[in-house]
Amino acid sequence: MTQRSSRLPGFYKLSLEERRCVAADALGVDVKELEQALQQGGLCCAKADKSIENVLGTYALPFGLGLNVLMNGKEHLVPMVVEEPSVVAAASNAARMIREGGGFQAEADPPLMIAQVQFDQVPDAPLALRRIEEDKARILALADEAVPNLVRRGGGARDLEVRDLGDGMLVVHVHVDCQDAMGANLVNTVAEHVAPHLAQLSQGQTGLRILSNLCDRRCVRVRVAIPPLALSTQDFSGERVRDGIVRASRFAERDPYRAATHNKGILNGVDAVALATANDWRAVEAGAHAYAARNGQYAPLCVWREGKEGRLEGYLEIPLALGIVGGPARVHNVARLALKVAGIASSQELAMLVGCMGVASNLAALRALATSGIQKGHMALHARSVAIAAGAEGALVERVAKEIHRDGHVTLDAARSVLARLQVAANA
Ligand code: MEV
Repeated sequence: MTQRSSRLPGFYKLSLEERRCVAADALGVDVKELEQALQQGGLCCAKADKSIENVLGTYALPFGLGLNVLMNGKEHLVPMVVEEPSVVAAASNAARMIREGGGFQAEADPPLMIAQVQFDQVPDAPLALRRIEEDKARILALADEAVPNLVRRGGGARDLEVRDLGDGMLVVHVHVDCQDAMGANLVNTVAEHVAPHLAQLSQGQTGLRILSNLCDRRCVRVRVAIPPLALSTQDFSGERVRDGIVRASRFAERDPYRAATHNKGILNGVDAVALATANDWRAVEAGAHAYAARNGQYAPLCVWREGKEGRLEGYLEIPLALGIVGGPARVHNVARLALKVAGIASSQELAMLVGCMGVASNLAALRALATSGIQKGHMALHARSVAIAAGAEGALVERVAKEIHRDGHVTLDAARSVLARLQVAANA
């Protein structure tokens, strides 16, 4: 897809049909292709029945576009799947502010995953450690033998590490370059294949042979620097907003209770893209939280400071194991569409884009929290879901939502009563 600009002003005001036309145009594809992929939420029951067990049907979630994303000088429309109102709007809004400072600067490590092989009752751990390290070349060759297709694609085993966990427990890490795959299957295959040889070297009893979801060799780093003016709101100057965000960051840096919520805000953006592209978001979450706690105290994954010329500088570091080949994307039409929409060429580029949405989501949340509070914006969008839950359809959704939000009663009862009144008026 040849993507033009990710700036689509007024996109949210369009009807769903109009939005599809505008998106197709921005992506340089036929709108029919978009519509076809989106049919049945991208997954028919017959395919679902072959995907997991005990299937009764499928489960739909909204699929939307994150806008305004400029990453390393390139425009991206970002596919997002999420049930929470305001995540897509907030990230798009923050990405627009970040553009004012030149956009996101992102980089990714090579796609290295860790295969773990555990040994217990190792009689002489230092000797086992030495024997394994001395046999490294042979072990890596053995690992490559297990994944010939990956090796053909340019990936394969790169290094190994032996960790003495004490009390006769030794764990061997094989680092595998998984190229464009998430890599869980590849790495598990490697772990099982090299285990017997490692058992001979260690003289220990073989334990688990599985990937580690703490994929700290596969991190993404994203930097942004935003001029204060871009952060200002109706009621607060940009400098005031910047200072509030820095204070919020310091709070999260000192307090794990706050850091958990701060990181949840980051993961709002991260998971939405992971889910849209049919990636394993539980693996992403496990890796992110373990990484956040790597120094002994659970800490924020993205921190904010005042930088040069009073700019607000943000820095995110997060491990991300994401794939663009294999896995559920093979059978899911919307996930395949999402990968095209994202305009990425590799798993590393997807990981960088996902990191950018994490930064954007974090910025949006902190900007709201540091100024008027989160509920104002949340409630306006939440009112729409409440209106729908009350039974409103079509144009009535916006009318009911507007009224209950204006009156400050965003409840199901209030929505039902407004809806009933509007329906009576319409039929009179
Ligand atoms: C809600 O989904 C996310 C926030 O709680 C994040 C945060 O507090 O930073 C708003």
